[in-house]
Amino acid sequence: MNVVLIINNKKRKVDVKPDEFLLDTLRKIGYTSVRRGCDTSSCGLCTIWVDGKAVLSCTYLTVRAVGKSITTLEGVREEAKEFTGFLADEGADQCGYCAPGFIMTVLAMEKELDNPGDEEIYHYLNGNLCRCTGYKGQIRAIRKYLESKAQRGEKR
Ligand code: FES
Ligand code: FES
Repeated sequence: MNVVLIINNKKRKVDVKPDEFLLDTLRKIGYTSVRRGCDTSSCGLCTIWVDGKAVLSCTYLTVRAVGKSITTLEGVREEAKEFTGFLADEGADQCGYCAPGFIMTVLAMEKELDNPGDEEIYHYLNGNLCRCTGYKGQIRAIRKYLESKAQRGEKR
């Protein structure tokens, strides 16, 4: 069936199956930042936004997203770039496989939570798995990123 999806503010006509998930749809039309890990809603690698909220695309039916706004990492390059610098500075970017889903979750958290503490950050990131880093560097990177934005008078 043909559907029209709004991806990163652009309309795309796509041929999809009724039981197809967004992860498969997005990758097949070139949004390769969206990564596949567990395929069972357990690892967070496939995180994207639908209407600005983080969702797991491996279990989100594509037809449910018709008429909604889908955002992938390709659509938030500028926002992601600054945070990626903090990840690198803290040694939290190793193999990088988890990074796109992790970044989408952190940027969603930034929009959603005001001045989150460590507990809130851990809670929000629960479900975004990384097999390389042990998470300490990632948490340091998030804190420094949020502090830097607060110092500049930007949100958080
Ligand atoms: S691939 Fe979607 S949560 Fe793991
Ligand atoms: S940096 Fe390798 S899985 Fe996270």
